[in-house]
Amino acid sequence: MDKKLVFATNNLHKLEEVRNIIGNSFEILSLSDINCNDDIPETADTFEGNALIKARHIYNKYGMNSFADDSGLEVDALDGAPGVHSARYATEGHDHEANINKLLGALNGKENRDAQFRTVAALIIDGKEYIFDGIIKGSITKERAGKNGFGYDPVFMPKGYDKTFAQMTDKEKNSISHRAIAMNKLNEFLKNLPE
Ligand code: IMP
Repeated sequence: MDKKLVFATNNLHKLEEVRNIIGNSFEILSLSDINCNDDIPETADTFEGNALIKARHIYNKYGMNSFADDSGLEVDALDGAPGVHSARYATEGHDHEANINKLLGALNGKENRDAQFRTVAALIIDGKEYIFDGIIKGSITKERAGKNGFGYDPVFMPKGYDKTFAQMTDKEKNSISHRAIAMNKLNEFLKNLPE
């Protein structure tokens, strides 16, 4: 089979992380590598739906095997919010600071601060669709701590740790993150595909 796979992302950080996981067995191309500048609408109300929209867009338009991911933060006391709306929780503009402020405000006075990050990856090989998920459980801290990472990292403390994602090195976070769990599953699947 074709050893090229399109990862439907323009996020160079994710691309690098996934290339490190998948190694040399597949050539991982980004959207810009295939000259795709389409603004693929993520209109589904589930992570799985949005990941499938992106992977299908590439498979249908370019005829190339592809995968995509969609992630977010799910907070128990907020019935799973911000969920698929994680990037645009406070404003339309991917404003991480405003998102954290809104989250801390919404949890103000609540006992239960349990939360999880979840990634769903959708893979399409020769028209067949496969789904892989990754979850890391933890809790939302009362204040920000740490400067690394992005998004909600300064207020997410994974279970069993006494520091937030933003207090971890990239290597440390990538060894336990939701995205790494989903992408490792996807990689195991790829390794077991017939030649
Ligand atoms: P994406 O689907 O991976 O682009 O994630 C959507 C949004 O979820 C991001 O813009 C962040 O707000 C949040 N998010 C996803 N993964 C992480 C993470 O590892 N740390 C912090 N925030 C994240």
